[in-house]
Amino acid sequence: MNGLEILGTGSYVPDFEADNDKFSEILDTSDEWIYPRTGIKRRHLAVDKPNHFMASEAAKKAVEDAGIDPKDIDLIIVSTCTPEFFYPAMSCLVQKRIGAVNAACFDVNAACTGFITALDIAQKYLAADKYKTVMIVSSEKLSNQQDYTDRASCILFGDAAGAVVLRGSDKPFYSFLGAEGDEFDALYCKIHYEHNCPFYEDQDAFYNGRFDTFAKQNYLWQDGKAVYKFAVNAMHNAVLNVAAQGGYDVSDLDIIIPHQANMRIIGKATELLGIPPEKVYTNIEYMGNVSSACIPVGIDELNHAGRLKTGMKLCVVGFGAGLTYGAAIMEL
Ligand code: UT7
Repeated sequence: MNGLEILGTGSYVPDFEADNDKFSEILDTSDEWIYPRTGIKRRHLAVDKPNHFMASEAAKKAVEDAGIDPKDIDLIIVSTCTPEFFYPAMSCLVQKRIGAVNAACFDVNAACTGFITALDIAQKYLAADKYKTVMIVSSEKLSNQQDYTDRASCILFGDAAGAVVLRGSDKPFYSFLGAEGDEFDALYCKIHYEHNCPFYEDQDAFYNGRFDTFAKQNYLWQDGKAVYKFAVNAMHNAVLNVAAQGGYDVSDLDIIIPHQANMRIIGKATELLGIPPEKVYTNIEYMGNVSSACIPVGIDELNHAGRLKTGMKLCVVGFGAGLTYGAAIMEL
């Protein structure tokens, strides 16, 4: 039993919307610059709710959609790179809020590749029959980490959460994960500790490359062009890898949900793969980049639009800080 069955899906998108014009009120930018370069018109921001609230709301909806008792969930995996706590894991807060008292809990951080990483892990637990029911919740509050004076990056990101409830199945499933740690400093958010250990000496000498020790602490920093270049190749290679594992031709895929970082990245990578636009699902125009939540929010939208049909080959592919990348194909 190698495959996955999606029992239910859910998502939470904050009410507050910031369109491109709202950003031109606070920054030297415009819809004319943002939309053609990124494909983003607006994004939702969790202005009055913490990340774990978004995660729990998405989880509740997925449980309801699956028609299961939360007590039947054996494992909750949360993917997030924007938690409010170093510990406990956010999955423990979700467990409490949804009453999944029998679930083991842990979080994964592979940045925007987090959902695919969690899917890869979940599949292994289910295939081994260690757990019967696994929930993945990908929840991201990127607004926590933006420098709203940096027009080159804050305009890209939004906040949202997506969740899926999974069981094992006999249908095919293939996954691939990769990373290029050499490029860790192309996209990062360094934690700023308020050290009070009197014995500490300067540790910034341990960083080099593009890492900027004077960058604003606790904020996202990226070399946009380097990430862009990496992303196109990484998505292309990851899809070819999973397709080859299953003996599929890329044209066999029915629908592909890519990480929603930039419409031009999505366009270029799928064009190289020869995947026509009608098979490529995007929500970047109204969501922006919500990191690891992009893909499960997309799955939930497709599910509730009645577009996920038995027998379809669904491909998900993404990349993110790390730099990490990965893809999965599941037959529904
Ligand atoms: O989940 C992964 C997250 N990261 C990514 O996906 C990043 C991938 N990279 C990208 O999407 C693109 O590199 C960006 C959208 C971030 C930037 O686009 P670009 O075409 O690479 O622009 P650039 O950084 O080369 O900047 C070109 C110009 C600069 O002005 P000068 O130096 O030519 O005068 C920027 O200052 O555009 C300026 N600029 C802006 N102007 C108006 C940068 N951001 C803005 C802005 N509004 N928001």
